[in-house]
Amino acid sequence: MCGIVGYIGKNNAIPVVIQGLQRLEYRGYDSCGIAMMDSEKMILEKVTGKVEELQGLLARQKTNSSVAIGHTRWATHGPPTFSNAHPHTSQDGKVALVHNGIIENYKVLRDGLINDGYEFSSETDTEVIAALVSQAYHGNLEHAVREALSHVVGAYGLAVIHTDEPEKIVCTRKGAPLIMAVGEDEFFVASDVAAILSYSKDVIYLDNEEIGILTPDGVTTYSGSDEPIDKKIHKITFNLEEIEKGGYEHFMLKEIFSQPQTIYDAMRGRLLPETGDAFLGGIDHMIGSILHADQRYFTACGTSWHAALIGEMMFEQFARIPCEVEYASEFRYREPLVDAKSIVFAISQSGETADTLAAIQEAKTREATVLGICNVVGSSIARETEAGVYIHAGPEIGVASTKAFTSQVTVLSLLTLKLARLMGMSKTDGLEISQAMQKLPENVEWVLKQADQIAEIAKLYADAANFLYLGRGVNFPVALEGALKLKEISYIHAEGYPAAEMKHGPIALIDKSMPIVAIAPQDKTYDKIISNIEEVKARHGRVIALATEGDTRIKDIADHVLYVPPALSFTAPILNVIPLQLLSYYVAVERGCDVDQPRNLAKSVTVE
Ligand code: G6P
Repeated sequence: MCGIVGYIGKNNAIPVVIQGLQRLEYRGYDSCGIAMMDSEKMILEKVTGKVEELQGLLARQKTNSSVAIGHTRWATHGPPTFSNAHPHTSQDGKVALVHNGIIENYKVLRDGLINDGYEFSSETDTEVIAALVSQAYHGNLEHAVREALSHVVGAYGLAVIHTDEPEKIVCTRKGAPLIMAVGEDEFFVASDVAAILSYSKDVIYLDNEEIGILTPDGVTTYSGSDEPIDKKIHKITFNLEEIEKGGYEHFMLKEIFSQPQTIYDAMRGRLLPETGDAFLGGIDHMIGSILHADQRYFTACGTSWHAALIGEMMFEQFARIPCEVEYASEFRYREPLVDAKSIVFAISQSGETADTLAAIQEAKTREATVLGICNVVGSSIARETEAGVYIHAGPEIGVASTKAFTSQVTVLSLLTLKLARLMGMSKTDGLEISQAMQKLPENVEWVLKQADQIAEIAKLYADAANFLYLGRGVNFPVALEGALKLKEISYIHAEGYPAAEMKHGPIALIDKSMPIVAIAPQDKTYDKIISNIEEVKARHGRVIALATEGDTRIKDIADHVLYVPPALSFTAPILNVIPLQLLSYYVAVERGCDVDQPRNLAKSVTVE
């Protein structure tokens, strides 16, 4: 959610931290700040608003420093004000720190400190840690951080500096992501690789409760039990271009248009179109356990949860094996029927979603085998799961998930194909499916060509207050996803419904001001959806239909028709979601919304 960047080294820390914060702004963007050492003096600057303002402020001051920590915030405790913005300092001004996560027992700690006469200047949970570090400090910052955190319950990614040790940054994490990176005579700490990628590709992933110490001479790491440890340096394989807009107006648009490639990348080496089968190296050794498990669960949040719903439907329809989907946030609280004979798949783009991580812990406590379907390599979920599949979508920066969704569905389709073949699907059917999947990138390309037409339709409906999305079967989760995309970035209320359910409630809302997006492919429910569209038209609703290429009948009923190539239910969700992504994008642009950084949202929700 929030972003952390810290720098120590031979160069001026300020531009490095500012650039890092700009790259992390997609994670949280309501206020930001920086703390830096000027010899033994601490300088603190904060603004409410975007990093650009902070950058302007610092440019005017012409400050120079070789040690700095910065933060871009997504408010949890207290509104986005100057005093609540990070870094937070101790009362004596000697400690400054930046924090991601939530300190659950902060109220008790805060009350105790206030009783002892401590004066707080913000409403945040974070300031409590600054106070505790200050109290525990006796000449060694890492010891003080360790001691302070022994009183804390909750999640944190932290970077801390102290005026008495001006050439040191101490960092640690529990539940929230944090990495260190190694350059040439310069060292970094960040909550996300994107922040430091232009300086270093050599990254150290900190594990829970480990402490990292950065000095101008290098980085050292200590385990949770305070033993020095040698951490492996990982090479980051993605490039700077992947986290830049590359000529597109927004990251979201770039990511929508990258889907022919990202879908291909998710399938590469895994789809076997000659044999009508699939191979997923990361979980190949687990396939028998998946097939013979007593229960199978998918758990996820947001868009990843929609991918999970599609996975469930495909597992049941094609592999004929039952499976349940549960919101990760609900999973741990509903006493799930999970035991040592269960398989739980955690699906997550970021690999850092706190609710999904909590669901994984719950499943592990109940001795289930937990597998991951993740995008971010080396993320917490990738490391917390026994085995898994990376979706290889590359960095996704737009807050509204697009390419990660289609890559998740691609991987779930591959897994379904693999299981289905083992469960008796014929080679002929396997060949038909795998060949359709092979054509996906080309077909997505074809759908993307309607972008201009979709932009025109968006202009007509940008003032709507509500939208209804209808779909059936695998296209019901697609309808949910279309509605979510619109809500997230245009702030228009939108709901997704199974088309036939419309008459059990939502039909009451339909009048001439209500646009309805109807996913109406020529499959076995086509005639039923056509009837639903007629019902909408009879009530003067306006219909944007998503139809199969060549369907002329639908043109006579719907107000607008967008086409996708003929698809199997294996490939339909991927093709159908693309126009819906574009529609939400163009509606948001038309309404003047901040597409990549929509209000109140965060790319990666690292608090429960
Ligand atoms: C946030 C993001 C969504 C995302 C969800 C789950 O709400 O804004 O785009 O779908 O988290 O994130 P994950 O990284 O676990 O897929």
